[in-house]
Parts: sequence; C-alpha cells; structure tokens
Amino acid sequence: MAKDLSFHCTECGAAHSKWTGKCDACGAWNSIVEDKPLSQGPKSKTLGGKRGRTVPLTDLATQEDAPPRTEAGVAELDRVLGGGLVAASAILLGGDPGIGKSTLLLQAAARFARNGLKVIYVTGEESSAQVQMRARRLGLEQSPVKLAAETNLRDILTTLEEEKPDLAIIDSIQTMWADTVDSAPGSVSQVRAAAHELTTFAKARNMAVVLVGHVTKEGAIAGPRVVEHMVDCVLYFEGERGQQFRILRAVKNRFGPADEIGVFEMTGKGLAEVRNPSALFLSERSAPAPGSVVFAGIEGTRPLLCEIQALVAPAPQGQARRSVVGWDGSRLAMILAVLEARCGITFAGLDVYLNVAGGLRITEPAADLAVACALVSAREDTTLSETCVIFGEISLSGAVRPVSQTENRLKEAQKLGFSSAILPARAKRRADPDQEVGLELQNMQDLAGVIETVFGITPESG
Ligand code: TYD
Ligand code: MG
Repeated sequence: MAKDLSFHCTECGAAHSKWTGKCDACGAWNSIVEDKPLSQGPKSKTLGGKRGRTVPLTDLATQEDAPPRTEAGVAELDRVLGGGLVAASAILLGGDPGIGKSTLLLQAAARFARNGLKVIYVTGEESSAQVQMRARRLGLEQSPVKLAAETNLRDILTTLEEEKPDLAIIDSIQTMWADTVDSAPGSVSQVRAAAHELTTFAKARNMAVVLVGHVTKEGAIAGPRVVEHMVDCVLYFEGERGQQFRILRAVKNRFGPADEIGVFEMTGKGLAEVRNPSALFLSERSAPAPGSVVFAGIEGTRPLLCEIQALVAPAPQGQARRSVVGWDGSRLAMILAVLEARCGITFAGLDVYLNVAGGLRITEPAADLAVACALVSAREDTTLSETCVIFGEISLSGAVRPVSQTENRLKEAQKLGFSSAILPARAKRRADPDQEVGLELQNMQDLAGVIETVFGITPESG
C-alpha cells in the first residue's frame, strides 16, 4: 500500500509520513507541518460539516480584450517579453551575479518610465547611492523612476499600495524578508513567501512586477524552482565572463513564445542592443581556418548565424579529452560515435575541443551537421568554403534529418552574403522550390554523403 505522506517540510518541500522534529531531507529543524485535506475524500466523512462555496464556471470564449502592453522601445527586450510588458504580470529575471541584471533593469525602468509608466525600483542589495551612481553612469539620472532601498516586505507592500506604480522592480527576491516567516532571508520559505506576496499583490493591484533571482551554482534560480511556477514569465540573462555579449532568454512566457532571445552588448555606458546578432557573431571570423563552420541556427523566432570551431589534436597519453563550450557534451559524444560508425572516421587517441564562437550557447539539434563538418575539417586539416552555411540534425543511423524554418535560415544566410548551403533533403517537395532563395543548395540524405561531397572521404577510404 502506498504510504500516506501527509506531512511536508516547509523548507525543502520533502514529503514525510509522520511528524518529526528534524527534516531528514534538508536537516532543517521544526519545519514539518501536516497537510490537512480540504476535500471530503472517501475516508474522512465530513470536515465538521464545513463545505466550501461553489466556484462559478465560465466558458472558454471571452469578451475581454488582450491585456494591455507597453513597449520599452528596446526591440531586443520587447521581443523577449512577447511584444512588450503586460500589465499585471509577474516576471522573474535570473542570472549569475555580476552579469548585468541590475543594469538591464535600471535601463528598462527608465525606458518604461519614459513611455508613461510609473516605475518603482526597490533594491535590497545595494544602497540608494550605489544605484544613483549607476544611473549617472548610464546617463539616466533625470529619469522619473522612483528608488527605494529596502528589504522589509511589509513596508515595501505598503509603499506600493500607496504609490500605485504600474511597474515595480524587486532587486533581488533573495534579499526580501517577510516577518511572517521564521527563517533567514534567502531561504526557500522566505523566497517562496516573498514571491507569493508580490505576485498576488501585482495581480490584485494591476501592477507588473519584475523579480530578480540569483542563480545557484547548479544553474537553477535559487529557491528550488518555487518561484518559477508562480510567475508568468521566466527570463535568464546569460553570457560569458570576459565576453561583452549578453543574451536575454525567455524560458517560460505565458504571453508570448518561449525560447526567444535578445542580444545585448555590455559597454562602458550600460547595455546596448544588438540589432543584427548574426553579423556580430560572425564579425570576429578571420580567414577560413580548418575546423571552422558557419551554422545557420534559429533562436526563438529569429535566425542566428554563428561560427562553430573545432580543434583536434593528438592526445598525449591516457584518455583523450572531449571539451565543449556552448554546446551539449553528450551530443558531441553522439556525433563522434556516428562519424566513427557510419563514416569510418575515428577520433580515438585524439583530443577534441569544440567551441561556439562569441559565447553563444546552442541547444538546437540542427547544429549536428555543422558540428560534424567542423570536426572532420579539423581532423583532416582542410578548410571549408567560407561562403557556405550548414545545418541539419543527425540521427544515430547517420541520416540527415530535416529541421524547422529552413527558409528563415537560408534567407538570413543570403542576407549576410553567403552563397551556398548544405542542408537536409526535403521531406516533401514544396511547390515553391528552394532555388528562389538565391543560394546554391546541396540537399543531403545522410552524413556519409555529406562527408564524401565536402571532404572526399568515403567510409572505406576514411
Ligand atoms: P550588474 O548590473 O550590477 O550585475 P547583476 O545585477 O547581475 O549582479 O552589472 C555588473 C557588471 O556590469 C559590473 O561588472 C560592471 C559592468 N558594467 C559595465 O560594464 N558597464 C556599465 O555601464 C555598468 C552599469 C556595469
Ligand atoms: Mg544586481
């Protein structure tokens, strides 16, 4: 019989079958509470005769208009939000410390204020003077954004209730503390309570709220995912230290497409939007080198061209290294295995390094074919045509599988001056031939065919 887990820990959420003084899962003391059921299940006869009221049911059809949106006037930000800031919505912005979250939000706050919203920026991490200094550096000191340095949630809510802003920015949720909860700021129960108070307040008062969340070493927004499901929109601000590019990525959005990205550049005067990221990511490409391939990718709704670089070197001894930056390590292992099994190209005894240029992180399987070509190009020490883009997914059988948005990828490549493409064969021939794009296309069925066409290697000769 299933255990009756009717107790849970308020710190870590672990379920328990009985009350104990200490939670086995997280070690917290006095954090276990009993969950009392509300429904009148088959066992509990009545809840003291107390019934809830009946909730009114409605149809799916609605007469109401779409919620009003305000654009920041920064295309890279507005697109990630799904077309501007939705009134009465809750947004979580996560990212590593020092990546530029406060800078981004201060700049966004000033833009929204300029477009007629009343904005309050609450900082719990810095003093007012520090934020004012940043505002001066960004040239925003004249902006009508109101600033508060406070961490007491009760005081903040009272202030917001009186001021009635259209947008409140809370930097950060980990520094807020609710006096109703008995644990230190930054603990799961504090973060959960603060996020819950702020998001319900936002819905009730028709105010948009942006919560800043720090990211833990494991890469999750601290407070084990407790905040992510409370908000309408989860954005991550990412980038490599030492690189000036920053990517704002929507991982959840109830009002727009997820996986959308916005590209920014950190300058001495704050974040500047990058209108043409493909050109930027390819701008550092010099003369064609072995192991360099241009991948025509899609990020969200937008095509994005980037360079994939591979380096192959003899492994001194022992186990060969596999090092990946910007792509998935297990995916690389798969491509290496497919190259060996289907094309007879082995990387045994060779160190393999793979890098996506510009600090970009690619998650699309469509990069498989570009990665495979970069690897073989590096191994054979041959260069590919510098005017060729490559994309396609590779299956374990070595087949090249079609990917989405072929037209968009090709159009972007043409716009940036590429003249040919290696891509999957079409599943079904469409009425409009690809040739309209104006690129020379090589539609390929399988990886062995690609390797033979590009490098002249057949499974027997390799
Ligand atoms: P910040 O917004 O404080 O990061 P977060 O809130 O995510 O912790 O940004 C900190 C970094 O950004 C800091 O290393 C300095 C840099 N920076 C610039 O390069 N240019 C600028 O105009 C500003 C304001 C910050
Ligand atoms: Mg900050």
